Amino acid sequence: MAFEYLSEQINQRKKQSLFRQRFVIQTSSERFIEIENKQYLNFASNDYLSVNASCTKLDSNTKQGSTSSALVTGFHQEHVDLENYLSKLMGYESCLLFSSGFSANASVLKTLMSNSDTEIFQDKLNHASLIDGGLASKAKMSRFRHNDLEHLTTRLEKSDSRHKLIVTEGVFSMDGDKAPVSKLKSLAHKYNAWLMVDDAHGFGICGNTGLGSCEEIKPELLILTFGKAVASSGACILCCNEVKDYLLQFNREYIFSTAMSPFMAKVTQDAITEVVNANTQRNKLRHNINLFKISFKKNCAQFDVQLLDSGTPIQPIIVKDPQLALDISNQMKQKKIWLTAIRPPTVPKNTARLRITITAAHSESDIACLIDALVRVFENNL
Ligand SMILES: Cc1ncc(COP(=O)(O)O)c(C=O)c1O
Repeated sequence: MAFEYLSEQINQRKKQSLFRQRFVIQTSSERFIEIENKQYLNFASNDYLSVNASCTKLDSNTKQGSTSSALVTGFHQEHVDLENYLSKLMGYESCLLFSSGFSANASVLKTLMSNSDTEIFQDKLNHASLIDGGLASKAKMSRFRHNDLEHLTTRLEKSDSRHKLIVTEGVFSMDGDKAPVSKLKSLAHKYNAWLMVDDAHGFGICGNTGLGSCEEIKPELLILTFGKAVASSGACILCCNEVKDYLLQFNREYIFSTAMSPFMAKVTQDAITEVVNANTQRNKLRHNINLFKISFKKNCAQFDVQLLDSGTPIQPIIVKDPQLALDISNQMKQKKIWLTAIRPPTVPKNTARLRITITAAHSESDIACLIDALVRVFENNL
């Protein structure tokens, strides 16, 4: 039989407790989601500042579809406005919009690293889109241990490639910790390399004014995605004019794909304006994150699990075994709390985890409910 490997691999995923499923969200509000007619407190949202509840209403003058690639007739005034707004906000010469963060990361790496004398230095925990982009490029790929500057230095020292690019996330999506971006920038400078930061989870959250992980340094390439704190969708690269010109000529995903919807560009600009001004939510978010961490340490110290050291909304609890992660997340659902079990291959083997995300919308009693439920479920399973 042809294609028997499909069912073989699906069955293998099931046997290893690694099978993934989708759930239909019937309704969602700032703190709750409804699934299969049941309501849950949501601890799995990336809408960290809770801007999704309040943003743009439909504007009948803005088109829902761009109708073609940006290089044909798909480039609208809303795109120009958003690109200019972001360039100015973030202090870059240029900005280019993409329909998703995945396509921005993967296509930028593939396109820019098209010379055989190039090398990409990637943090081992970088997002799949960065890894895929690197693999699809002509560059040599060197991976360094997570946030390990010494290991990266060794790799840079050994390299005889002419064009070097260090690639990291600003806030790591599955661990919640931050990259040492200033030190990475200094290293890049020392070794005549460029730095690329994917700040999908840092923009809106980190930095004194919420502009993200790179408020104090300027990597040559900065990727922002709009599906997390901005609560819309799409992404952009911030860069110099020359890189933008190059991407416009050679980035196949940008050239041969329908441009982001103008409506989405407008919604995104309004949402970013809200995010920039969301100091009250950012303070509340910090308060909630601290409250969760303190309460977890106080109430869950006796259990054989590890809360990773993260000061961001992403708070992972490592339980190691994928089936245990699934069992705990299912039992949390019975207690009306939604959180996600993250299993390999999304994370390394033996590090299956519960990925809790804290938002500004959560109340102190929501966090108390979460801790209480975790304690009871841990007691049953550990
Ligand atoms: C670090 C990181 N980069 C990129 C992406 C991809 O962004 P998008 O969802 O816009 O494709 C994600 C998650 O989805 C992410 O967590």
